[in-house]
Amino acid sequence: MAHEKIGVIGSGVMGSGIAQVMAIAGYSVVAFDVNPDVVDAAPALVTDGRFGIQGAVARGKLTQSEAEEALSRIHFTTDRDAAVVTDVIIEAIPERLDLKISLFRELDQQCPEHTILASNSSGFPVQALAAATNRPDRVIGWHWASPPPVMKLAEIVRAPQTSDKTTETICHLGTTAGKHPIVIQDSATNWGYVTNRVYGAMIREANAVVAEGVATRSEVDQLMVDCFRWPSGPYGMVSGATTGWKG
Ligand SMILES: NC(=O)c1ccc[n+]([C@@H]2O[C@H](COP(=O)([O-])OP(=O)(O)OC[C@H]3O[C@@H](n4cnc5c(N)ncnc54)[C@H](O)[C@@H]3O)[C@@H](O)[C@H]2O)c1
Repeated sequence: MAHEKIGVIGSGVMGSGIAQVMAIAGYSVVAFDVNPDVVDAAPALVTDGRFGIQGAVARGKLTQSEAEEALSRIHFTTDRDAAVVTDVIIEAIPERLDLKISLFRELDQQCPEHTILASNSSGFPVQALAAATNRPDRVIGWHWASPPPVMKLAEIVRAPQTSDKTTETICHLGTTAGKHPIVIQDSATNWGYVTNRVYGAMIREANAVVAEGVATRSEVDQLMVDCFRWPSGPYGMVSGATTGWKG
């Protein structure tokens, strides 16, 4: 089956960027948010924001007509019913397991039977979300990095129940969207998959360095940039991720 229509649930920092990427890749996208202010702000963000579609035109990555076509494929809405009748849902609501479990339970009741439910959780066990549904084979983790239009990350988190077909479909979507899908195994007990577990170890050590008075936060950041050619140090990473690198 061709997966042509994507529903994005939550259109904040990540959801709006994910909607933009999938529309540029050629998919019709319905992006829902409970907050009308977020829905009102999202079109300007994906059009003229720092990582928006017009910037891609200015850098020669898209023609003006490709940009306009991509924009015409995204519909931001406060009407959840419009977003659930899609082939693949990408969930990007806040990182709270209780919220995600109740959303997955509701989506399972409302979405067509074939719809895949993918979560952009930063680290919760995907199997906990799968267990809230009657379609555990069609539940998967698809962890993006911020800002979605720029970062190649497609950390595909396969729960024990996730089917081969679901995994292949999401990897195909990720590749089509210009990302670099890598399938990893879900963990029932650890938060963070691969990326955020390793990042968490690094931030714990950075905090120890600061607490011991060895260096300040900004010195730690600058040292890591200078030493490893990182685009940002560990503390800059936290503020960039939460604001969408708009500053
Ligand atoms: N910010 C990052 O760098 C980053 C990177 C990778 C993954 N993530 C993950 O992506 C998810 C979203 O993070 P974000 O930074 O975009 O957060 P955000 O706060 O910017 O956006 C979340 C949006 O979800 C909306 N929302 C809340 N409950 C909802 C519901 N029931 N239905 C629909 N919309 C709802 C909110 O109004 C808000 O606009 C989290 O799980 C986060 O851990 C974030």
